[in-house]
Amino acid sequence: MSSITAEEFGLLAKYIHSICGVALDSTKTYLIETRLKSMMQQYSCASYMDLYNKVKADRSGNMEKEVVNAITTNETLFFRDASPFELFKHKILPDLIDARSKANPGRPVPIRIWSAACSTGQEVYSIAIALREALGNLNNFQISILGTDISDEAVTRASYGKYNKFEIERGLPSQTLNRYFTLMGDGWKIKDEIRAMAVFKKFNLMKPFSGMGRFDVVFCRNVAIYFTPMDKKLVFEKIAGVLEPDGSLVIGSTESLTGVTEAFEPRRYMRAIFYQPAGAPAGRFAAGAQPPSQPFAPRPVPAAPPAAPAAPARPLGPPRAATVVAPAAPRPAPTPATPIVPPRPEPPRPAVPAAPASPVMAAVTPMEPETEAPGETVPAIPRRAPVRSQPAQVYRAGDKSDLKRLLMQKKQKAAS
Ligand SMILES: C[S@@+](CC[C@H](N)C(=O)[O-])C[C@H]1O[C@@H](n2cnc3c(N)ncnc32)[C@H](O)[C@@H]1O
Repeated sequence: MSSITAEEFGLLAKYIHSICGVALDSTKTYLIETRLKSMMQQYSCASYMDLYNKVKADRSGNMEKEVVNAITTNETLFFRDASPFELFKHKILPDLIDARSKANPGRPVPIRIWSAACSTGQEVYSIAIALREALGNLNNFQISILGTDISDEAVTRASYGKYNKFEIERGLPSQTLNRYFTLMGDGWKIKDEIRAMAVFKKFNLMKPFSGMGRFDVVFCRNVAIYFTPMDKKLVFEKIAGVLEPDGSLVIGSTESLTGVTEAFEPRRYMRAIFYQPAGAPAGRFAAGAQPPSQPFAPRPVPAAPPAAPAAPARPLGPPRAATVVAPAAPRPAPTPATPIVPPRPEPPRPAVPAAPASPVMAAVTPMEPETEAPGETVPAIPRRAPVRSQPAQVYRAGDKSDLKRLLMQKKQKAAS
C-alpha cells in the first residue's frame, strides 16, 4: 500500500473538515494514514487518491460515515477529570434547582442537560449517576439528558450502555459499578433506571442547532480541541444560543474559552471553572431566591424511597446548598425562650386600639390561614394549630419594678 502524498493529504484533510469539522494539519499525516488504512483494504484502494474518489462517489453516505467513525477520537471515561462532576453536583445543580423550583412552584423541577459530544456514553451516564446521587428520589424532578455525537458507532454503543472490563475500570468506583450496573456476559450494562434518564442521537456540531430545544446545562468537553479557531467560536456561540440565560456550560479541563468567544463568562467554583452566557449577573441563579441556608436535600417523597442509598461524594469543598422550593406553609412564630428585646417603640397609630398601659406589652401577630398551591406534588407540611392573638408580655431588660408589679398582680389575681 502506498503512503499518502501531500496532494492526497490536502484533499482528504479538506474533505474530513467539511464533513465533521475535524481540522488536520500536515503534522497529522500519520493519523490519516493509520486511521484510514482499514478502509483502504476493505475497498481495495490502490492509493489514498483512489479512496478519496470512492468516498466522494458513494451516494449511499456509508463511506462518509465510515470516514467519520475512523477519524474521530472517541477517547472518554466515566467521571472524566472528576472535578466537573463535583462542580455539577455541588454548584451548578443546587443553583439550578433553586432557580427552577422558584419558577415552577409545586411542580416537578425541569432539568435539561445536553452532552454535546458524548462519545460512547460514559459522560452521559456519569451525569445521570451524579444527578441520582445528588437528588436521591427523582420524583420531584423532570430530568432529560440528551447525548449526541457525530459518530454513529459511538452513539449506538452509548445507547446500548454496555462496557467492557477495561472501560469500567477507568473512572468507576466499585461501589458505583455495583449500584448502577448489572453484570452481563463479558461486560457490565447500565441499569434501566439510569438508562431511562437519557436519549441518544447522532448530531454534527457543525450543523445549525435549530430544533435542538433549550438546555439548562451543556457539557461540551474535549471535542472543540479538534476544530479550527473559527469553528470553535461558532460552535460555542451556537451553544450560547440554546442555553437558558442562566444556564451553564462545562468544557474540558484543559480547554478555555478565553480568546475564543465573548458569548460566555467564566465562573469559578473551588478548583473548577464553568461558563455562563455573558451579560447575566454572576450567581444569578440566586436571583429571586433566598440565599440557601440548609444542606442540599430535596424533600423526599415518602411513597417511593430511593432505590439505593446515596453514596457520599468526594466533594470539592463544602457542598453548595440548594433550597427546593415548595409552596410555603407559614412558619409558626418562634417561642421566646428568654427575655425578648422588644421592637423599637413606634409612634402610636391612630387606627390601632389603645395599647395596654404597661410599656412592656407587645402583641403576637395572628397567623394567616395556610394555603397550598394547586397541583402540589410534595407532601404537605403538617399544619400546626394557629397561634391565637394573645397579647404577649415582654420585659425590658432592667425594668425590674414593672416586672415585680406584674408578678404581684398575677399572684393577687390567682389568690382571688
Ligand atoms: C474525545 S471524545 C470526548 C467525549 C466526552 N465528551 C469526554 O470528554 O470524555 C470527542 C467526541 O467528539 C465527537 N465529535 C467529533 N467531531 C464532532 C462533531 N463535528 N459533532 C459532534 N461530535 C463530534 C467524536 O466522535 C468523539 O466521540
